[in-house]
Amino acid sequence: MSTTLIKEKIGQAAADYIDPFLTLESIIGVGTGSTANCFIDSLAQVRHRFAGAVASSAATEERLRAHQIPVVSLNDAGRLAVYVDGADEIDPNFSMIKGGGAALTREKIVAAASDTFVCIADATKAVACLGQFPLPVEVIPMARSLIARQLAAIGGSPVWREGTITDNGNVILDVHDLTIRDPKQLEFEINQWPGVVTCGLFAARGADILLINEGDSILVKKRP
Ligand code: 5RP
Repeated sequence: MSTTLIKEKIGQAAADYIDPFLTLESIIGVGTGSTANCFIDSLAQVRHRFAGAVASSAATEERLRAHQIPVVSLNDAGRLAVYVDGADEIDPNFSMIKGGGAALTREKIVAAASDTFVCIADATKAVACLGQFPLPVEVIPMARSLIARQLAAIGGSPVWREGTITDNGNVILDVHDLTIRDPKQLEFEINQWPGVVTCGLFAARGADILLINEGDSILVKKRP
């Protein structure tokens, strides 16, 4: 089965998985990326069963609206029962690297506002140890060189994602060559540097549930 078909199947599985969470008042958190897009397409079929969605990016907002799914501001939504989003890497403890689509900050905010984080990922995203995928870091533009030097000082090789401006008006540094032994500790450390908006480690708030393919089957895993 092609990766596209697998993502479609995972998107449908996620829509099925969250079905018991839905009431006519429900507002769902929706992530960003190609796998999240498949989820949105499946969600459209049950759009009459919930009130609306909080989008983690402008791109997701546009796709939700195209499917006539009402988009709600997080400020008006209150706490969300469930957030569904993809990942660039996920480890056995359900810590993740995210931000390949540059939406990491809003994704982290929506994840923090949600009771359950459902990660949807194809099998290529499961890793024993995070860090093969370069770690995205969202940075205030004037701090780009300062933060790049600090990332180099901890052993990383930061590369400016030139041409990319986030939905928040910031820039992205993709950090190669990091050895991530303790994702939570590294997330806290990088996030404290003045100029960093957030890094793409989702360890303090990792996933609760993982929907992932094994061959053509979709497995539902709970955080160990
Ligand atoms: C966007 C993200 C995405 O969840 C991540 O990049 C996975 O994307 P895809 O489903 O296209 O592989 O973090 O910022």
